[in-house]
Amino acid sequence: VPAAAAPAETERPLLIGHRGAAGTAPENTVPAFRDARAAGADYLEVDVQLSADGVPFLFHDDTPARTTDVEEVFPGREDDPVTSFTWAELQRLDAGSAFGERWAGERIPHLDDAAEVATVNTGVYIEIKSPRNSPGIEQVVAGALAEDPRWARLLEAGKVTVIGFDEASNRTFAGLAPDVPLQQLSGTVPDAATLARWSQVVDSVGTNYRALDAADVDRTRAAGLDLGVYTVNSPEAVRHVLDLGVDMVTGDFPVQTDRLLDGL
Ligand code: G3P
Ligand code: CA
Repeated sequence: VPAAAAPAETERPLLIGHRGAAGTAPENTVPAFRDARAAGADYLEVDVQLSADGVPFLFHDDTPARTTDVEEVFPGREDDPVTSFTWAELQRLDAGSAFGERWAGERIPHLDDAAEVATVNTGVYIEIKSPRNSPGIEQVVAGALAEDPRWARLLEAGKVTVIGFDEASNRTFAGLAPDVPLQQLSGTVPDAATLARWSQVVDSVGTNYRALDAADVDRTRAAGLDLGVYTVNSPEAVRHVLDLGVDMVTGDFPVQTDRLLDGL
C-alpha cells in the first residue's frame, strides 16, 4: 500500500508594507519605511512621482492636500498637482503632522531614501504612480536603479520590483530595464487574453483582494504570472487571501500581518 501523500506544504506569501507601513507611521515617509523593516517585511512599498524639476519623490496622492501642511506653506496651492511643485518646494512641506503630531516635520522622501532604509531582507516595491503626471519617470527610475550602488546591491539580492497600473508605462519601463522584476497592478483580474498580453512584459499581477476569487487565481497562474493582493489589513482578509493561495500580501500594518502569516 503506497504511503499517504504528505499534505501539500503551505508556502508563506511574501509580506509587503503598504506605503512603508501606512497604518503605523505617515505613509511614504522614512519612519514608515523603518516600521516595515522592523516588522521583517519582505519589501516596503513606495509611490514615486517626479517633481517639476525632475526629482523622483515618494508620494501617493495627485495633490498635496490630504497628507501635508500645504495650506499653511503655499496657501491656494493645495489642489495643484503635487508634480507642479519643485523639489525645494516639496522639502518645505510637513508630511508627518497630518498623521500625528509625533511625526511633525517629517519630510517627503527622495526615491533613494527608500534604498537607504531597505536591506537585503526588506527590499523595495517601487510603484510608478500616475505616470501621465510625471513624463519621463520611467527613464528616471531606470536610471536610478542602474547608477546608484544602493539600488545595485538590492537588485543583486533580488529585492527590487517595479509596479504600476499603467500598462503603457510598464511596457516603457520593461524596455529600459528588462532585468528588473515588474508587476502589473489592476483593480480586478482581467480575462485570459489580457493576462497573456501582460505576461509578455511583467512577472506578476497585483490586485485588490476584495473582488478576488479562485477562478481569478487559476487564470492568473495559467498565464504564468504570480499574484499579489492589496490592501490586506484584517485577520479575516488575511485568512481569505491565504485560502486563495496568493504569492504576495500588501498591507498597512506589517507587524500584525507578519504575526497572522506566522499563524499559518
Ligand atoms: O500595492 C499596490 C497598491 O499600492 C496600489 O494602490 O493606491 O495604494 O497605490 P495605491
Ligand atoms: Ca502604491
